[in-house]
Amino acid sequence: IVGNEYIDVIKYKDVLIVYDEDAPSFLRERNPRLFLPEDAPSDLKDAFYANEKTNWLEGKTGFLMFFEQSTRTRNSFESGMAQLGGHATFLDTSMMQISHGESAKDTAVILSSFGHMIACRYCNWGLGNKYIREMAKWSTVPIINLQCDLYHPMQALADLMTIEDEFGHTKNLKVSVIWAMATTHKKPISVPVSQVLLFPRYGIDVTLAYPEGYDLPDWVIEKARKNAAENGGSLTITHDMEAAYRDADVVFPKNWGSWVTNQSTTVVDDALLALKAWKCTPEMMKLAKPSCRYMHALPADRVNEVVDEVIDGPQSVVYQEAENRIHTAKAVMSLFVHDKLPGDRR
Ligand code: CP
Repeated sequence: IVGNEYIDVIKYKDVLIVYDEDAPSFLRERNPRLFLPEDAPSDLKDAFYANEKTNWLEGKTGFLMFFEQSTRTRNSFESGMAQLGGHATFLDTSMMQISHGESAKDTAVILSSFGHMIACRYCNWGLGNKYIREMAKWSTVPIINLQCDLYHPMQALADLMTIEDEFGHTKNLKVSVIWAMATTHKKPISVPVSQVLLFPRYGIDVTLAYPEGYDLPDWVIEKARKNAAENGGSLTITHDMEAAYRDADVVFPKNWGSWVTNQSTTVVDDALLALKAWKCTPEMMKLAKPSCRYMHALPADRVNEVVDEVIDGPQSVVYQEAENRIHTAKAVMSLFVHDKLPGDRR
């Protein structure tokens, strides 16, 4: 499976797998429920609540490199690895020699010689994806993208799992990825990019709604449309927020930065403040189906993106969505982390 970029970059055994949106289908071929290897004794989420041992990665170690902050991603991988019987070391890259200029190559070669997995978050526009790919070129162990400037594959997997948990299927659900106003920081486009690439592959009818200037890259839209055509889903793009809420089964109102049209790192400007109406409110939710679920990758800007009444209300499944991060993280690690190979020895 080469030439796709969804999970983005994973090196599996001696095959360099550069994924795109094909990754989830590849994982699902091995287990339709939770992307587990075929011989997995049970679904990881069920196993978690049944207090069953899932120590398939006993003795395995991994490194979690973070250039930016994280609550869900770091802890789902760190705890997930422990629950699989292994150990993951958290690495704040500002405390690594990377901050003195050590190269991605040297970092990847050394860390891969110490363990069995490297996972990395690096979201800087124009830098993050390139850095992770450079590590994958030199690593002898799987490299997992924990979010970069372009992709957030682990979030999209958990989102898909949550939709399936809630509806029992994904076919022709109206799922709306809706831009929302936020002032905390200029966020990556990686969450909506991963969602619009992944969801149509599962027959979902995706509506992407955003104000002028918050476009996703053209190549993303082209790929998303191709995925929809091949898998019975669809992609509709609109600048009308209400149209996105109308009759939706699931809404993802979330902020992303205007990186594609404006590379400035300024967070708040007059153009952004003029978009305050792009907020998830009970009035917007009333346009959707009564059964509509509110979802958000979190953290949410509870002042600007959404009001408490919605995120704390009965239609919100944000905590289920966040919890599914650990089950999907464990599934991906179970599938890809492997024994050292004879050729790995120096
Ligand atoms: N959704 C998400 O990736 O959360 P963190 O930034 O806390 O990891």
